[in-house]
Amino acid sequence: MNLVLMGLPGAGKGTQAQKIVQDFDIPHISTGDIFRAAMKNETPMGLQAKQFIDKGELVPDEVTNGIVAERLSQPDTANGFMLDGFPRNLVQADSLNEMLAAADRKLDAVVNIHVNPEVLVERLSGRFICRECGATYHKLYNMPKVADTCDVCGGHEFYQRDDDKPETVKNRLDVNIKLNTPLIDFYEKQGVLHNIDGEQDIEKVYADVKAVLESLS
Ligand code: AP5
Repeated sequence: MNLVLMGLPGAGKGTQAQKIVQDFDIPHISTGDIFRAAMKNETPMGLQAKQFIDKGELVPDEVTNGIVAERLSQPDTANGFMLDGFPRNLVQADSLNEMLAAADRKLDAVVNIHVNPEVLVERLSGRFICRECGATYHKLYNMPKVADTCDVCGGHEFYQRDDDKPETVKNRLDVNIKLNTPLIDFYEKQGVLHNIDGEQDIEKVYADVKAVLESLS
């Protein structure tokens, strides 16, 4: 199963990806997670990405495409993958098609989690993340089952992403909203797009996502 999860910042891609990997045996490839790991380790690529991420801008296509091409060449993707946050524009979408065609592969589905932009500011400003394993929570909609304890790894330390601060969120949303519609049209024309209502309860969103994925196998 070769899958793309798309949606505006805060739509719930990471939240749904966490659930998908529990039920389906495919690697979760998040460009955002790859950039954050590189920033934490202060690699040259991480330092370059930071200049863009801190402003809510996209990292340049040639950097992002290169990272994804390298990741998709790893053997663990041979039986499928789930890209989260890539592609984000038509240049990246074309590049992904080329990468897949060169390996005689194709996309099976693009799952687009739709949430109206007004809802997203609250989603992002209330998000907090486990420092140990990266699991995502929300102070109103998605609290850990036991206070101050991560459901996934039992960790007790949480943090807010720098790019979830109000001054960055607005630009992140503006940048991504502009690019989203052409990408949706592109995948609709390819016949692989599945739209999901992302404004339902997290479990209901997942039931819809799971139904799409099960219909592919
Ligand atoms: P990335 O990390 O991919 O960020 P993003 O796309 O902005 O998406 P988020 O991770 O913020 O949101 P999400 O959809 O995963 O939502 P979540 O599940 O956490 O990218 C970061 C940056 O890296 C980019 O800005 C860019 O600079 C760079 N980058 C990454 N990819 C790139 C690319 N391809 N090209 C160029 N640059 C790139 O949910 C959000 C919150 O809502 C959580 O608190 C969650 O608990 C809550 N929530 C989730 N679902 C629901 C629900 N149904 N109801 C209520 N609350 C919910």
